[in-house]
Amino acid sequence: MKKIDVVRQILAGKSNSIAKKTAQAFAPTNIALCKYWGKRNGEINLPMTASLSISLGDKGATTTISEIAARHDQITLNQQPIDIETAFAKRLAAFLDLFRPTPTTRYQVNTEMNIPVAAGLASSACGFAALVLALDQLYDWRLDPQSLSILARLGSGSASRSIWQGFVEWREGEAAHGMDSHGVSLPEQWPELRIGLHLLNTQQKPLSSREAMLRTVQTSQLYSAWPNQVRTDMQALKQALATKDFARLGQVAEANALAMHATMMSAWPPVIYSQPETIAAMRQVWQLRAEGIEVYFTQDAGPNLKLLFQANALAAIQTVFPQLQLCLPFPRHGKG
Ligand code: PMV
Repeated sequence: MKKIDVVRQILAGKSNSIAKKTAQAFAPTNIALCKYWGKRNGEINLPMTASLSISLGDKGATTTISEIAARHDQITLNQQPIDIETAFAKRLAAFLDLFRPTPTTRYQVNTEMNIPVAAGLASSACGFAALVLALDQLYDWRLDPQSLSILARLGSGSASRSIWQGFVEWREGEAAHGMDSHGVSLPEQWPELRIGLHLLNTQQKPLSSREAMLRTVQTSQLYSAWPNQVRTDMQALKQALATKDFARLGQVAEANALAMHATMMSAWPPVIYSQPETIAAMRQVWQLRAEGIEVYFTQDAGPNLKLLFQANALAAIQTVFPQLQLCLPFPRHGKG
């Protein structure tokens, strides 16, 4: 099944012949507590396993879209025009090809992100989710959230979870067409939960998660253990959410991230996203824990760590990580 077939199925009976002048939408970025690592179908981004994330409140992407009369799409990111020959613009244009009402339709797409772009901070997740939400408004499709999640998944797997705030489970599904592989919003609220972004300065050119996943699935001996790890971790995380057991939540998330990175490290050629500073920061987290401060980390396809803690630990953590960028996943429930 091709991406375009999925889009046709979802938009059956919907029209994109009447566009509003312009539409705008926001989508939060999300951090996985149980990671998505490996695809069973790379064309329509069907995952090998389920995953579970937390969205980052007001941290994400705001995308404005309109149809324009031009030869090429016009794309800006944080007000900077993006050259149409860049990999970023090509990926976006290929995604937009799925939705153009006529072959000559072109778009102006302006995206503002208040998180660092392409630093393993899930900028593609919020980027594709915001784009799909903006298209839904532009053409007044009024799709249900699950359909929006499937469309976002076609842009980037983790984008399927950025349609909602709060905790989100992305179910792997079993159907070949993937209509059962979408996000599901979980009801638990955790107002005291904090995510701290510990950003490391790195000049290294990142290896895309797409390439790294493929290499891991194809060459890592350890990958066969990953689906079992996910099954156990998903269950443990859901239990931790139900009982509001922060230590369990943190332990499972940290161990899950380390296990994912272990599968990558055993791929060939090896994939190592950590820098020496990443490992040093991990040791600082473990030292804080040894001193009784409940803080855990998770790490995605980049060298940065995301710290997980509760509001009452913030001051102690900031003494060790003064540059920490604080995110409130449940922002309406007060600051701090
Ligand atoms: O959605 P992608 O293709 O950028 O992959 C995301 C992969 C991880 O961030 C490492 C894990 C995850 O579940 O978000």
